[in-house]
Amino acid sequence: MNVVGSAADLAARLRGTGYLADEGLATVGYLALALDRPLLLEGEPGTGKTALALAIAEALDLQLIRLQCYEGIDSTQALYDWDFPRQILHLRTVEATSSGAEVEEVERSLFDERFLLARPVLRALRESPAVLLVDEIDRADDEFEAFLLEVLSTHEVTIPELGTIRAEVPPIVVLTSNRTREVHDALKRRCLYHWIDHPGLEREVEIIRTRLPEVSRRLAEQVARSVQRMRELDLLKPPGVAETLDWARAIDALGTDALDVQSAAATLGAVLKYREDSERVRESLDRLLAS
Ligand SMILES: Nc1ncnc2c1ncn2[C@@H]1O[C@H](COP(=O)(O)OP(=O)(O)OP(=O)(O)O)[C@@H](O)[C@H]1O
Ligand SMILES: [Mg+2]
Repeated sequence: MNVVGSAADLAARLRGTGYLADEGLATVGYLALALDRPLLLEGEPGTGKTALALAIAEALDLQLIRLQCYEGIDSTQALYDWDFPRQILHLRTVEATSSGAEVEEVERSLFDERFLLARPVLRALRESPAVLLVDEIDRADDEFEAFLLEVLSTHEVTIPELGTIRAEVPPIVVLTSNRTREVHDALKRRCLYHWIDHPGLEREVEIIRTRLPEVSRRLAEQVARSVQRMRELDLLKPPGVAETLDWARAIDALGTDALDVQSAAATLGAVLKYREDSERVRESLDRLLAS
């Protein structure tokens, strides 16, 4: 299944989708594929964690199946549910048409594949080869993490009414976390871990140029340089790559080809999302924009 020959090969394939991975990320990504291990990505918001899973799926021409975690998520939202309204409808039809049907038989027909609502984890097991993205695992609770660990270890689940479903080929699993809480050691042990940092200046310029080819090199460099300086300001919410791209897009949309104090001030809302941060940056805009 693993068609990727090396870390450099993976980096080149990701680049083909517009995702620029540095050597560390490409290497851990390659190892995750080669060793069949889930990849756990942590990092500041907007550093390309989610985008990496999308890029891997696209680069390998695999289906991406996404499980977005949130507070209170439980295994029914991840695995499967029964389509209750359709089951009731089916029951009514059976009652109306075959009065002599055995209770057991009716019951069996109720828990049939037709009424199964497969959720992301079950779909990933059944439809693998696929990429399963478990996004923002830190939002889920301990119990859900334990459930996930079990599935990721065995690649199978048991549905009492249907039996055990096992992945023929394990899915490629990417988990992301924004570290609002620590992921447990047991899950970490199962995974290969990588912390994605904000990109360096050169890479960030390249990311802008790749994602937004309409933006000039000069503007891309000005935006990237200013964002890199903002990140040193100890802001409440330092801008991620997502904000860099939004900022470049906004300035470009104004029809300006250069970042000056005026265009920067007018578009600051694309890059900073807290009043305190905006005020802070406005004070030192001249210095931030200096070449
Ligand atoms: N290395 C990269 N190469 C190309 N594009 C990138 C890279 N890193 C980030 N991006 C782009 O930046 C944007 C934000 O990335 P993404 O949503 O994946 O961040 P995230 O780490 O998942 O953030 P969050 O923690 O807020 O969910 C996306 O549009 C993504 O394509
Ligand atoms: Mg994300």
